[in-house]
Amino acid sequence: MIRPNQIMQLTAKTMAGLEGVLADELKSIGATDIEQGVRAVTFSGDLELLYKANLQLRTALKILAPIETFTAKNESQLYANIKKINWREHFNLERTFAIESTVNSSIFTHSNYVALKSKDAIVDQFRDYFGRRPSIDKDEPDFLINIRCSEDTFTVSLDSSGDSLHKRGYRVGEVRAPINEVLAAGMIYLSGWDKKTDFVDPMCGSGTIAIEAGLMARNMPPGIYRERFTFQKWKSYDAKLWEKVVSEAKENILPTSEEPFIYANDISREVTRATKYNILQADLEKDILLSCSDFREYIPPSPPGLLMMNPPYGERLNPEDFDTLYGEIGDTFKQHYAGYNCWLITSNLDALKTVGLKTSRRIQLYNGKLECKFVKYEMYQGSKKGG
Ligand SMILES: C[S@@+](CC[C@H](N)C(=O)[O-])C[C@H]1O[C@@H](n2cnc3c(N)ncnc32)[C@H](O)[C@@H]1O
Repeated sequence: MIRPNQIMQLTAKTMAGLEGVLADELKSIGATDIEQGVRAVTFSGDLELLYKANLQLRTALKILAPIETFTAKNESQLYANIKKINWREHFNLERTFAIESTVNSSIFTHSNYVALKSKDAIVDQFRDYFGRRPSIDKDEPDFLINIRCSEDTFTVSLDSSGDSLHKRGYRVGEVRAPINEVLAAGMIYLSGWDKKTDFVDPMCGSGTIAIEAGLMARNMPPGIYRERFTFQKWKSYDAKLWEKVVSEAKENILPTSEEPFIYANDISREVTRATKYNILQADLEKDILLSCSDFREYIPPSPPGLLMMNPPYGERLNPEDFDTLYGEIGDTFKQHYAGYNCWLITSNLDALKTVGLKTSRRIQLYNGKLECKFVKYEMYQGSKKGG
């Protein structure tokens, strides 16, 4: 069982390209021994830091607490090693559990099989000891175990988050192709936004980018709306410590600014109805000004400002329509956004070329499985128009 002041080696999982910003976030909440890996950052911290990480990190998908590493060359070695871990120390018969596994191995080629064998070992340990077995719940387990296999090396971790942390809990109104909240937060960090300059998402969809900007500007922890984290079912759970972490974070929330400086707009009435609901759910209705209009006609606040947009990528539509749309994005930047830094994410590289402006930064990111470019256009005022 994890003791309150025990320093643990922890792992925060993230998306490719966001390891650097996650490392910065970890530093800001007091983590030590921070090391960037591939889609993950490792760090050291105690139980309080584990709670803070779940509540406050904007670019983490999961916080894992590794408990064991071993090598196994076949399934019986895997079974034996998993059974050797004292699972009764971590959870009891009344708790349901589930296993998530990932494999990158020539020996163990099926992650489901690794999960199944490991489940058998855990169940058998309980049955040998108590004569009864704990139940499995794949959808909402009390206790989630993460097993990663790289060739013949296994890392077994307790998953302290449960549902991925991008599921903040504010997005209740769904629209098509919403961007992942962790990616949106990462993009805002990468853009270097100062949390003061006017921020515009003129194709906001469900409002994720604007909402993440609002949360950052108000210093609102992204986990504040979530109802559950799996660490709350651990034997080591310290409800008082969790309350302290939550109330300290709430004390640091900044008041609403006198005038909203985050602007969200979308062409679709139906979409903005859902967006409005999400903004309300996130408690940011005084911080974000929502409108419904065509991006080409939308008049943004006067510069300086930062635009961030996630236009349709065009998987479902005619490529020519997309060249036109992206071409018009370039024209609109020139017409209405002089004095702005404009950031755009897309997986459609052909359409991106038709924007017709010079990028000053290009960052590779992934929106789900789609490889994307996150690009910056600096739109100068006066004669030096960006492009
Ligand atoms: C990929 S979605 C954005 C998803 C959003 N980032 C989210 O998290 O939900 C693209 C959005 O652009 C909007 N859109 C398309 N053409 C537009 C236009 N000309 N003006 C304004 N919005 C437009 C669509 O209605 C859609 O909601």
